[in-house]
Amino acid sequence: MRIGILGNGQMADALGGQWTRAGHEVLVGGRDPGRATDCAARIGAGAGTLLEASDFGEVTLLAVPATGVEETLLAVDAPAGRFAGRTLIDCTNALVPGEFTLAVPAMAERVAGLATGSQVVKAFNLAADSVWREAPHSFEGEPLGVPHCGDHAAANERVAVLIRDLGCTPIAAGGLARASLLEATAAFAIGAWVNGADVRSLFPPLAAAFGTVHPSISRS
Ligand SMILES: NC(=O)c1ccc[n+]([C@@H]2O[C@H](COP(=O)([O-])OP(=O)(O)OC[C@H]3O[C@@H](n4cnc5c(N)ncnc54)[C@H](OP(=O)(O)O)[C@@H]3O)[C@@H](O)[C@H]2O)c1
Repeated sequence: MRIGILGNGQMADALGGQWTRAGHEVLVGGRDPGRATDCAARIGAGAGTLLEASDFGEVTLLAVPATGVEETLLAVDAPAGRFAGRTLIDCTNALVPGEFTLAVPAMAERVAGLATGSQVVKAFNLAADSVWREAPHSFEGEPLGVPHCGDHAAANERVAVLIRDLGCTPIAAGGLARASLLEATAAFAIGAWVNGADVRSLFPPLAAAFGTVHPSISRS
């Protein structure tokens, strides 16, 4: 796949590095040519401008801070349809620092509104760059599950391929209207982790998700 990345920070480095290793052709686009080149050199990708990364591939990863999303998409003329018909992955988390609430209640839908005609998929926002960088991970014998939300089947499938390339398991989590749930989940989990709570302890395993019936109790 040809993948353009908007941003040359931690997520560009972590995810872009995994995808170049998996054989994808990646172009890192940044505001500063030096920083984009440094990131690209670290991960074996090409470097360019934000505009060049926007036009590069069938998939674009939006990897800038939430506060820079609008500026970035306007700078590459996204409202004019630059991403029309192509997959735009939104991994952003619009967290209010220290409060772990959402500064923007539905960022992925906002991205879709700004990038006219794009096929936005929310993904990769639930784990830290260090987790993506060190993938594949297996926790308690299971690969990390990665939920993705988007309205377009082809875009969801492309993202599922990129998730599998990390050694993770894609979890189709519905359309873009559900992306805000992933954003809220990230805010909740990050708040819990920072306060020393393990969110894995909050949920029963699937087999017990709706309760278990004691073997001595007959259902009939
Ligand atoms: N890091 C994580 O663990 C993690 C995990 C999940 C999701 N996320 C989300 O992923 C996104 C990227 O995070 P990151 O950790 O990669 O951030 P980062 O390391 O701070 O890098 C941010 C990148 O965005 C660029 N940028 C900043 N403001 C911009 C603006 N106004 N216009 C255009 N580009 C701008 C920066 O460019 P310059 O170099 O020119 O400043 C830099 O390349 C964020 O939305 C974050 O919430 C991060």
